[in-house]
Amino acid sequence: MPKEPYRQIHQNISRWYQIEGRQSLPWRNTDEPYHIYLSEVMLQQTQVKTVLERYYFPFLEKFPTLQALGQAPLDDVLKMWEGLGYYNRAKNLHKTATLVNELPRSIEELIKLPGIGKNTAHAIAAFAFEQPVPIMEANVKRILCRLHKLETPTDRALWDIAYALVDKANPFDYNQAMMDIGAAICTVTDPKCESCPLSSLCKGKEDPTRYPVKKRRKVPTKEQNIVVTVYNGSLSMTQRKGKFLHGLWGFESVEVPVTAAEYLGQISHAYTHFKLLCNVYVHYENSPEQAHYFSEAEIKKLAISKVDEKIVKLFLATM
Ligand code: ADE
Repeated sequence: MPKEPYRQIHQNISRWYQIEGRQSLPWRNTDEPYHIYLSEVMLQQTQVKTVLERYYFPFLEKFPTLQALGQAPLDDVLKMWEGLGYYNRAKNLHKTATLVNELPRSIEELIKLPGIGKNTAHAIAAFAFEQPVPIMEANVKRILCRLHKLETPTDRALWDIAYALVDKANPFDYNQAMMDIGAAICTVTDPKCESCPLSSLCKGKEDPTRYPVKKRRKVPTKEQNIVVTVYNGSLSMTQRKGKFLHGLWGFESVEVPVTAAEYLGQISHAYTHFKLLCNVYVHYENSPEQAHYFSEAEIKKLAISKVDEKIVKLFLATM
């Protein structure tokens, strides 16, 4: 094996990135570990555009440092995360901030922190600390599968290939470039192999969309009855205690709505592992129960889930 078997490919990738890469993304113009960590957690679940336009800057404005984040109440953190979903990620981010004043450099130490898995640890190591390691995200996985004609790769195989291929002299740009190549060139349905800087290496380019094989996951549907209880124009909400959506405020689900409740309509929401259908009812109280009631303006200040946001919208639309 020559000493630098991928020299030409690394050069191609680097050149491609200089011309076509999204170099102006704010988390690509910093080596501040906290900023990179935050961007990686946000980008795990949401498109670049949404993170850039709605979440990244406001979050950093509110919690400018890891220490500031650690000192903030969890409710404030959840509020800034509202709409991003996967609230456990925000809670883990907060937890990590309470545990350390700065992020460790080593992947081994990073992985010990709440919510930092192998992928995020590698991204922080490569982007904040210039370590010569690869990152693994959906776009990168697709490229690696096609390079080696892998239909159903194991994690181990993907990491081995990624480690062999990473540009050790230039891990920051290389890893950012790989994500961009996956997003712009090696796309799921319409790969543009003629423009790909990895084309000369790619075994799968004759029929790239065969790799990897798509997993068709049929998600179950869960149905719930939700009662919006109204007293004096304000809505009853409780703070969730269970594991799911813990800490967010929301409406109660019931087995059977009280007879006096009026049917408002149905809303649906697609979670990763199931689809939720909510039959929404409204019930007007004449006297307050032992409950927290919130006006529309007050609800705006609470951290609530997408589903509960849809329920509030439905309620307001039918008023
Ligand atoms: N997704 C995960 N990490 C990313 C990054 N650094 N830039 C763009 N998209 C990403």
